[in-house]
Amino acid sequence: MTAVPNITLNDGTVIPQLGFGVFQIKPEDTKDATLAALETGYRHIDTAQMYGNEKQVGEAVRESGIDRSELFVTSKLNNPFHAREDALRAFDQSLEDLGFDYLDLFLIHWPMPDVGDYVDTWKAMEEIASSGRARSIGVSNFQPHHLKRLLDETGTVPSVNQVEVHPYLTQDEVRAFNEQNNIVTEAWSPIAKGNVLGEDVLKDIAGRHGKTTAQVTLRWHVQRGDIVFPKSVTRSRVEENLNIFDFDLAADDMAAISSLNRNERTGPDPDTFNYIP
Ligand SMILES: NC(=O)c1ccc[n+]([C@@H]2O[C@H](COP(=O)([O-])OP(=O)(O)OC[C@H]3O[C@@H](n4cnc5c(N)ncnc54)[C@H](OP(=O)(O)O)[C@@H]3O)[C@@H](O)[C@H]2O)c1
Repeated sequence: MTAVPNITLNDGTVIPQLGFGVFQIKPEDTKDATLAALETGYRHIDTAQMYGNEKQVGEAVRESGIDRSELFVTSKLNNPFHAREDALRAFDQSLEDLGFDYLDLFLIHWPMPDVGDYVDTWKAMEEIASSGRARSIGVSNFQPHHLKRLLDETGTVPSVNQVEVHPYLTQDEVRAFNEQNNIVTEAWSPIAKGNVLGEDVLKDIAGRHGKTTAQVTLRWHVQRGDIVFPKSVTRSRVEENLNIFDFDLAADDMAAISSLNRNERTGPDPDTFNYIP
């Protein structure tokens, strides 16, 4: 299997372009699923406080025997903890639950525009970064106008913006803003939770390359320069999703996949989502 490329973030941190997402994996299934991914060759795990499975991710990392320094682990600040003191405490709790002394990347999960002020939350994230216990900090589900406030009102440019991206939601505006500001785009739900996989355009391209429609979709993301972390609890799919670095999509195939865009989300709209679990 060909190696996963690395991407260097704006703070110098190096992140594998493909990882393993653990959203909606039940806590009792997370250790085995994460171990399967690590055994397959994944070295980047994307979790969150909201997913309720950080503890099991940590257990899998230790049980894998892989040196912590060879792994890249991301977690995200949960929505109720946007106030400074809460954010600092919640970050400490993440480290405790994972059993780590640092995170590679810590993100604000949602901007929650009607609850507190995400600029103040970002200032707490800056404090966490300066403690050295999060190597990089970033955001998730930020629209350009949310990012613009961080850029105008604070001294730290987020290293990544993790947003929903797939062929039904190509996010051209958000991705262009990220790129202009040296922020790497991370594409969540990269296969739209499986919804895109029956598209004839993808089937045709997949047939010509001897690949699956999931592999073609993930390949489209990496050729666009985004970071992806498909989720699967099915071992054969975990292997399939990693095996995308031995073929190239031509420009017209890339364009055909992008033309599936219909600005359709599988998840909430960040401008109106203010959910406190
Ligand atoms: N920041 C955010 O707000 C946010 C929101 C959502 C997700 N995320 C992150 O993004 C990651 C991925 O997103 P996601 O889990 O929502 O969706 P996804 O990765 O697009 O899709 C996962 C679904 O597709 C299936 N699947 C996976 N690989 C497949 C393959 N090769 N062929 C056919 N079906 C396949 C999985 O089934 P099985 O598991 O049954 O195999 C699962 O039902 C999450 O785990 C999380 O880390 C972040």
